[in-house]
Amino acid sequence: HKLLVLHGPNLNLLGTREPDIYGHETLDDINNSLYEKAAFNGWEVKALQSNHEGALIDAIHAARLDGTAAIIINPAAFTHTSVAILDALNAFDGKVIEVHLSNVHKRESFRHHSYVSLRADGVIAGLGSQGYLAALDALIKAADA
Ligand code: DQA
Repeated sequence: HKLLVLHGPNLNLLGTREPDIYGHETLDDINNSLYEKAAFNGWEVKALQSNHEGALIDAIHAARLDGTAAIIINPAAFTHTSVAILDALNAFDGKVIEVHLSNVHKRESFRHHSYVSLRADGVIAGLGSQGYLAALDALIKAADA
């Protein structure tokens, strides 16, 4: 199975960006733990971080055509603004899991609404980097069921 992991804007700064909210782990740490778990279970992972909405959309379009079974996406601030990412995900047939490091529901009210949640099969928020592994675990179990 092929998995695409998408990280939105500012997540390249993980580890140094507001660590009290987002933790001390870097994006490489998160990707490496996903690669490890995926490899152990025979899954292939491609991870991409971009600060540009269009680059994330292009990656979702590519996933429609290359046999990608599932997308784990932390759209970061685009969560709350991007109809375009929602539309791209709506054109993708596989599973979609939305992940947020922080619990967006206990933060500012502008973080409470997610366009991506209108498409996501599952949403995980507030578990820090563990959320990505929980998402992958759910995908693996669903594929094996
Ligand atoms: C985030 C939450 C968003 O509101 C914020 O804009 C981010 C990160 C999270 O992972 O907690 O950049 O998606």
